[in-house]
Amino acid sequence: MIRLAETKDIPAIFSLEKQCFSDAWSEQNFFEVLSNGISTMLVYEKGNIILGYAVVTIIFDEAHLDNIAVDSKMRGSGIGKQLTQYIIDFVSQKGIHKITLEVRLSNTTAINLYKSFGFVAEGVRKNYYMDNEDAYIMWRYDDDKKP
Ligand SMILES: CC(C)(COP(=O)(O)OP(=O)(O)OC[C@H]1O[C@@H](n2cnc3c(N)ncnc32)[C@H](O)[C@@H]1OP(=O)(O)O)[C@@H](O)C(=O)NCCC(=O)NCCS
Repeated sequence: MIRLAETKDIPAIFSLEKQCFSDAWSEQNFFEVLSNGISTMLVYEKGNIILGYAVVTIIFDEAHLDNIAVDSKMRGSGIGKQLTQYIIDFVSQKGIHKITLEVRLSNTTAINLYKSFGFVAEGVRKNYYMDNEDAYIMWRYDDDKKP
């Protein structure tokens, strides 16, 4: 099931974060997400084990998908899709109809996931990552809200 993350979940989330990213967020970043008043963190949990998480931040009329990851042992089983759909529905219910994100140009899996939900690469941020890899800037608009 997908639910809102709580402070007690942060050690498990942080452990997944280190497994999934070379430039991992710090544990402190996750605490800040829970207290900054504009971000929402979700976890995908099965049998009390956290298998995935996602962070979205709403600023004015835009949502930014800040983070999404799934335990490497559980990838390809639809958890990423469920988290992405949940975020789209969650922000839409708050009247937010556009979502943006950055993704490494080399991250074909994530790019395919986002494209399958209608995200389109609209630009490139040069040297966005700590290792200097570029990022695609992707956007998704609800059908009736396309610019
Ligand atoms: C990206 C990520 C969250 C996807 O999670 P997942 O649970 O494995 O994804 P799903 O099983 O829901 O698959 C969703 C879609 O992703 C794509 N995908 C999944 N595995 C893939 C693979 N091995 N190769 C290419 N595309 C793949 C497909 O489009 C798939 O849809 P389909 O099954 O209809 O073809 C996961 O791979 C991950 O945690 N990666 C490391 C962290 C990361 O890169 N996060 C994104 C940062 S921008």
